[in-house]
Amino acid sequence: MKARIIGTGSYAPEKVVTNSDLEKFLDTTDEWIVTRTGIKQRHVAADNEATSDLATRAAQNALEMAGVDPAELDLIVMGSVTGDFPFPACACLVQKNLAAKKAVAFDLSAACSGFIFGLSTADQYHKTGRVKKSLVIGAEIMTRTVNWDDRSTCVLFGDGAGAVVMETMEGERGILSTHLHTDGSRWELLYQAGFGSRTPPSHAGIDEGAYFIKMAGNEVFKVAVCSLTDVAIEALEANGVTREEVALIIPHQANQRILDATGKRLKVPPEKIFSNVASYANTSAASIPIALDEAHRSGQIKEGDLVVLNAFGSGFTSGAALIRW
Ligand code: ACO
Repeated sequence: MKARIIGTGSYAPEKVVTNSDLEKFLDTTDEWIVTRTGIKQRHVAADNEATSDLATRAAQNALEMAGVDPAELDLIVMGSVTGDFPFPACACLVQKNLAAKKAVAFDLSAACSGFIFGLSTADQYHKTGRVKKSLVIGAEIMTRTVNWDDRSTCVLFGDGAGAVVMETMEGERGILSTHLHTDGSRWELLYQAGFGSRTPPSHAGIDEGAYFIKMAGNEVFKVAVCSLTDVAIEALEANGVTREEVALIIPHQANQRILDATGKRLKVPPEKIFSNVASYANTSAASIPIALDEAHRSGQIKEGDLVVLNAFGSGFTSGAALIRW
């Protein structure tokens, strides 16, 4: 028995901000952003949109494809670091929106690896027989965590949500294995102080811009490439699968140079590394399920294909899933 993905869905806010739009108020250029990151535009949530709204839309799309009534769901796991509130969990709000009354719903905080951590968690519930149908979501409004005066970070992020519906099924198709890692020793290279318990809200903090994302870009770049590669290889080796047998690798969409470097280290041709970072920028936990939905709906993944999902995020966290589609 395996957890099989029977529906995928995604949602990106209507408003699109291009690099040229950024040039109007930021000391940057389209050329710099495209060369350094591959990003051309990002979706930005409307003022009246919160993360649960995006997550609900993505979940509805996935449920529709799966032909599953929300009332049948046993579990909702949501990867996000930008929930509507510190509490309740964003997943509780999505559960209410969907009227998924039976489902236990909770959030996971693993930054850009949040969806893979969620997928792995749901997979364990399927394996032990505790759930039959689950919904795993990655959703973020990253554009509210960045300082729009800081050109080194604000150009990198965007908003969106993606989701999958899984069902326990017999046969070869489904999640073959998941692999998760954490290295807390270098957390300071990428974090958001927000209004956490170490940095409670204060006027001084707001004046100093203390609550925005802080990132040592160069350092993060190197760790990201190594981690994305290592965890993908781990997933392949655990299943005795060669790179050649894999149809598609869908890494966390942070930036094109990270995707290219990961492909090279993995010795996998570029056409096997899925990328839509040009259109969405880095949507953190939402990036993999958005990419998966796009790859699936566009026919890039076919029944029986082997697909690797690999993520890296603040923490540092990393994770991979090998799926027989
Ligand atoms: N526009 C124009 N110039 C800029 C911009 C910008 N948006 N941002 C920075 N610069 C300038 C810098 O100020 C610096 O100028 P200086 O030489 O006069 O001091 C110059 O460009 C070079 O800056 P670097 O930081 O060295 O540029 P680099 O080539 O390393 O690219 C980048 C920066 C794109 C952030 C890169 O380090 C990177 O991609 N890092 C990974 C970041 C990332 O993707 N993080 C998230 C991944 S993990 C996750 O998603 C959790």
